[in-house]
Amino acid sequence: MGKVYVLDHPLIQHKLTYIRNKTTGTKEFRELVDEVAALMAYEITRNLPLQETTVETPVATAKANVLAGKKLGIIPILRAGLGMVDGIKQLIPNAKVGHVGLYRDPETLQPVEYYVKLPSDIEERELLVVDPMLATGGSAVEAINSLKSRGAKNIRLVCIIAAPEGVELVEKAHPDVDIYLAALDDHLNDKGYIIPGLGDSGDRLFGTK
Ligand code: PRP
Ligand code: URA
Repeated sequence: MGKVYVLDHPLIQHKLTYIRNKTTGTKEFRELVDEVAALMAYEITRNLPLQETTVETPVATAKANVLAGKKLGIIPILRAGLGMVDGIKQLIPNAKVGHVGLYRDPETLQPVEYYVKLPSDIEERELLVVDPMLATGGSAVEAINSLKSRGAKNIRLVCIIAAPEGVELVEKAHPDVDIYLAALDDHLNDKGYIIPGLGDSGDRLFGTK
């Protein structure tokens, strides 16, 4: 079974409060989502492998470490996942970015795939699938299905807020995938919104409502 991590770093929790606030406008919402995504990436990458090297300082040779060159990929689930990409790229500028386009049918809440474009070597990459919201879990499960059917083997899911229902669905469908969250909320309402949540992440990021 995959592990579920709620990243309780004080900066993440502080910024999340402003993300949730209904009076936070589009500009600030975007900035905060990027900042939280960057802080989450910082926590998630703490176990990246290092390799030893040496470096010439002005006065001596020092033993040192550099990243061992693990290949990473960031996979935003469109649209709202796009809001997390720049923040993560600040820390991992060489990561390749693939896109999976899904929307939830408003009646059935079932995910509908409309776009997939991935790095050609996804089977070699450690992939971070990013989406601010994990609600029913349908979109995340479908996105991960889509990646696995194209050869992806090493996947982690990074969401800002999740409902227990979504976590359970991903755990059942993809027990090999670890899930990283800033908050695990209470429940879903009858329209599939996370309660207390933050409302509609795509609309708040792109100003479409
Ligand atoms: C939102 C969100 C997730 C999905 C979560 O996207 O960004 O992708 O809902 O819901 P689920 O866990 O029940 O599948 P939405 O379908 O609203 O599309 P958008 O990002 O294009 O606005
Ligand atoms: N998608 C969102 O953007 N918000 C929710 O609360 C649930 C799904």
